[in-house]
Amino acid sequence: MKNVVLIGFMGTGKSVIGRRLANALGFRFVDTDRLVEKQAGKTIAKIFAEEGEARFREWEADVAKQISGCHACVIATGGGMVTRPENLGRLAGIRVALTARPDVILRRTQAHPGQRPLLRSANPLADIARLLAERAPFYRHADLTVDTSDVSIDAAVRHIQAKVIEIEGQAHSG
Ligand code: S3P
Repeated sequence: MKNVVLIGFMGTGKSVIGRRLANALGFRFVDTDRLVEKQAGKTIAKIFAEEGEARFREWEADVAKQISGCHACVIATGGGMVTRPENLGRLAGIRVALTARPDVILRRTQAHPGQRPLLRSANPLADIARLLAERAPFYRHADLTVDTSDVSIDAAVRHIQAKVIEIEGQAHSG
């Protein structure tokens, strides 16, 4: 069974949906942000504050290398993982892009204040819009794109699970 690789912006539901999807599929769940934190021995907010974004991207690239041998894993990537194409090259599998409207992303990310160093400015909505525009080309390349703005977590998981099984079936019959 292939991996399922979840990509997409902050606040689109990659971690929460990924964990449940892994359970539903009987796959292992891997969250690249949590692996970075484990290896760095500090939170992402602290890495950004003490070492800067460039160093965070190196931790992230290291983690992508380390998990490149995963099989039957659901991998939730950090929102910026896709900006280095070599990272995605290492994370083979069915690629599922999660999206959400900027207002929904703002609401979800503000619910956990201090956890998203890239959205700490006086105008996070403007930052969301700018980053979404910059990253649109990277998030576009996916086997499946799911807008999570107005659906429950359960509904998103069920939808993705059915599609993954369908895509996997096509791969084997073709
Ligand atoms: C980032 C997204 C975050 C985390 C870091 C940087 C980004 O992950 O990796 O704060 O560049 O979009 P989530 O997408 O899981 O919030």
